Amino acid sequence: MASVFYVLRATLTVILLLAGIIVLVLQYLQSSPAPTCHLPPAHSAQQTKQANSSAVEQQTYKPVMLLWFWPGNKRFDLQDCKTLFKIDNCQLTDDRSFYSRAHDVLVFHRAIQDDLSNLPTSPRPKFQRWIWFNADSPNHTRRIEGIQSLFNLTLTYRKDSDIQVRRLLTFKNSDEEFVLPKKERLLCWFVDSDNLTTQSGEGYSYYRELINHMKVDVFHNSTKGENYFLTMSSCKFYLSFENSIHRDYITETFNSPLSVGTVPIVLGPPRRNYEDFAPGESFIHVNDFPTSLALAQFLLGLDKDQEAYMRYFHWRGYYTARLHLTEEKYEFAHAICQACRHVGIYKEYRVVPDLYKWFIL
Ligand SMILES: *[C@@H]1O[C@H](CO)[C@@H](O)[C@H](O)[C@H]1NC(C)=O
Ligand SMILES: *[C@@H]1O[C@H](CO)[C@@H](O)[C@H](O)[C@H]1NC(C)=O
Ligand SMILES: *[C@@H]1O[C@H](CO)[C@@H](O)[C@H](O)[C@H]1NC(C)=O
Ligand SMILES: *[C@@H]1O[C@H](CO)[C@@H](O)[C@H](O)[C@H]1NC(C)=O
Ligand SMILES: *[C@@H]1O[C@H](CO)[C@@H](O)[C@H](O)[C@H]1NC(C)=O
Repeated sequence: MASVFYVLRATLTVILLLAGIIVLVLQYLQSSPAPTCHLPPAHSAQQTKQANSSAVEQQTYKPVMLLWFWPGNKRFDLQDCKTLFKIDNCQLTDDRSFYSRAHDVLVFHRAIQDDLSNLPTSPRPKFQRWIWFNADSPNHTRRIEGIQSLFNLTLTYRKDSDIQVRRLLTFKNSDEEFVLPKKERLLCWFVDSDNLTTQSGEGYSYYRELINHMKVDVFHNSTKGENYFLTMSSCKFYLSFENSIHRDYITETFNSPLSVGTVPIVLGPPRRNYEDFAPGESFIHVNDFPTSLALAQFLLGLDKDQEAYMRYFHWRGYYTARLHLTEEKYEFAHAICQACRHVGIYKEYRVVPDLYKWFIL
């Protein structure tokens, strides 16, 4: 009788132990993460790791950056970061089904609806960072309630953004000598507005004063397209007038003349701020002169003094200015690719406390 009892007890213990093990195994299987599918490029790169140890650079892990909106609906090929800018630090995608795996989500401010209904609705993974992309100046930035503390990184024109939209000059890496393009015009301005006599804004008023003292060649048609750089390079000076005046808000209207060999006449933030972006002797600031007459006299003087004019190009010995892509679909490409580069390199955890306090004030 006793021995039967012992056998039963032993059997029961074994059964309980086995059941316990099975339960533990099942629990373990359930809690371990579902097999994650990485985007193909990173995966295959990792698989080739052993096969080729010399290509270390290419095998490093690349985070997924999801473009939540196509800014301005201007689509370009996702490979363009690599082909145009040699930037290959992230896996750029516009496929929203990658949301839960995306390390970074780029959100274009202008595309956000007022009720935030077109932002991601599923919970944000712990590791994920949202990037606020705003290409406009504060005066042209719509205030949307509820987004003040949603973001982890900023991508704007401001120098104190996490990622900067524009980087104007780079150090020169060739011995190529600068050759001044053939000049056919003294002072030019490319401007969209048809009626310059009625436009309000500091740039327009300054222009109306200036034309009392010297001729300005105005082009309404060449702000886009192939002739853009060619026409600009044929002018000795160019009116680089910003349409609103804010610290660091220095746009292509400044970079374009610099890049083609034309001297920008700037109207925008103070000279000191321009000098954060470009050498002081590469441009002329309207505030360098007490009146528009004084500026006109100075420019007419430079027109007759080639040696003095050429001093505005000495910086060319040390720097190059990048031509921006004029094709419309590439308007935001450089900024997006800069973000791709940044997220591939910098991993810091951060919360932007109050977007508007930082950006608008
Ligand atoms: C390894 O990668 C390097 C650089 O990508 C390439 O030049 C080389 O041919 C590769 N070697 C092998 C064995 O695949
Ligand atoms: C510009 O606007 C002013 C005032 O409205 C008008 O008198 C003038 O004819 C306009 N000029 C052109 C070129 O449209
Ligand atoms: C713009 O118009 C000017 C004449 O006003 C012309 O010389 C120039 O070629 C035009 N540019 C473009 C891009 O059409
Ligand atoms: C911004 O816009 C306001 C009017 O909306 C104007 O008074 C102000 O001058 C503008 N600021 C700049 C810096 O352009
Ligand atoms: C990103 O910002 C959100 C909202 O402020 C915050 O909850 C989250 O912890 C931040 N995540 C990272 C990875 O910095």
